[in-house]
Amino acid sequence: MKFFLDTADLAEIEEAASWGALAGVTTNPSLYARIGGKLADFENHIARICEIVDGPVSAESVAMTRDEIVEDGRRLAAIAPNVVVKVPTMVEGLAATRTLADEGIPVNMTLCFTVPQALLAARAGARYISPFIGRFDDISEDGLDQLANVVDAINNYDFTDNTVNGEKIEIIAASVRSANHVTQAALMGADIATVPFGVLKKMVSHPLTDRGLESFMKDWEKVQNA
Ligand code: G3P
Repeated sequence: MKFFLDTADLAEIEEAASWGALAGVTTNPSLYARIGGKLADFENHIARICEIVDGPVSAESVAMTRDEIVEDGRRLAAIAPNVVVKVPTMVEGLAATRTLADEGIPVNMTLCFTVPQALLAARAGARYISPFIGRFDDISEDGLDQLANVVDAINNYDFTDNTVNGEKIEIIAASVRSANHVTQAALMGADIATVPFGVLKKMVSHPLTDRGLESFMKDWEKVQNA
């Protein structure tokens, strides 16, 4: 499993990138709004993220028609070679994804909740599919069960011809709210988890690690004073 950071916050991205395990970033309009992002700065902001991160950076189209999504996608893809165009899973999004994929522009199909949506996204040429976990949990359904179904269904079929620039389709576990979501997604074989910075921090730590470290340090003090 690879790890992406789900944020538009440059400080979080710089910090996570310095840990050495970050493979990419996903953003969305809400995450950009959360950091007080302005429309006029959007493309520069994505360019800055693309400089920091050595991996794919998803930037979302906010258009609603296929032609406008394609136009958005071409503009976003021109920002940097590692931009991935994020497109919502809907009819206009599928049509735009086919056009962008045929042009060699990688698409991350987002707001994907069901197996049929995921299979359609894959058939339309998506390079990444992002099934959401947490938003299912928010409405009292089991997001992990839904993710497991998507992973099984996609793996039931051969999408090896379905590549963008020679690279195979990958499933991104999205809307991740806990380290346990990451554990379960990895056990199912999701290719990537995109996580908020808070979850990434929780993934690193464990009380037994802290306790063990504390006792090693105390014992080392004894060695120094012996
Ligand atoms: O990037 C899309 C997804 O990860 C959003 O998550 O927490 O807003 O449901 P969330």
